[in-house]
Amino acid sequence: MEEEEPSEFWKQLWISRYESVDKIIFGRRSYEGHAEVHAVSKRKPADPEHLYDYSHFLERCKLIVFSNTLQKAPWGNSRIVKGDLKELVEKIRKEPGKDIIVEGGPAIAHDFIKSGLADEYRILVMPVIYGMGPHYWGVMERQETLKLIGVKTMPQGELLLHYRSAR
Ligand SMILES: NC(=O)c1ccc[n+]([C@@H]2O[C@H](COP(=O)([O-])OP(=O)(O)OC[C@H]3O[C@@H](n4cnc5c(N)ncnc54)[C@H](OP(=O)(O)O)[C@@H]3O)[C@@H](O)[C@H]2O)c1
Repeated sequence: MEEEEPSEFWKQLWISRYESVDKIIFGRRSYEGHAEVHAVSKRKPADPEHLYDYSHFLERCKLIVFSNTLQKAPWGNSRIVKGDLKELVEKIRKEPGKDIIVEGGPAIAHDFIKSGLADEYRILVMPVIYGMGPHYWGVMERQETLKLIGVKTMPQGELLLHYRSAR
């Protein structure tokens, strides 16, 4: 069951950025997962208000789906893109508007990191060691140097590390 109040992490990662972000980039799998769970039409009456707010935020944004296979993306204000990642991102950056979030999943996040396309990183360190599967930072072909912008400690022991790419 979802918490009634948003966590500090949720506030930092999402609520604090509702005004400054208007585009979200997804890999196809994450897009399909989000459409299934976070569309306003999928919300349940018992869901807390902050999840409704999140769904409305997503549906206000332009949703950009990277996919070579998807034929249509009917959820919200979505469009499908394919082709060279760097060229596509350069084009998207030139569109008028606000900040862009890459919401994932790990495959597309890793492509951004590897290609040096991310301006900023928000890294959440949880006070547990657990897990398996794909990593955001997989094998890197070159060094990516980061400049620390901020550190926030949170009530459950999490650390939010906010970095900017040093270019
Ligand atoms: N906040 C979170 O915790 C969070 C956020 C997001 C996702 N996730 C999780 O991450 C998992 C999915 O991640 P994933 O890494 O497996 O998949 P993903 O990155 O969401 O999607 C991979 C797909 O994106 C498309 N794609 C990626 N790069 C592309 C490019 N350069 N050009 C064209 N298409 C490109 C391809 O789609 P086609 O096969 O259609 O070509 C590829 O199969 C899910 O389990 C989801 O729940 C978690």
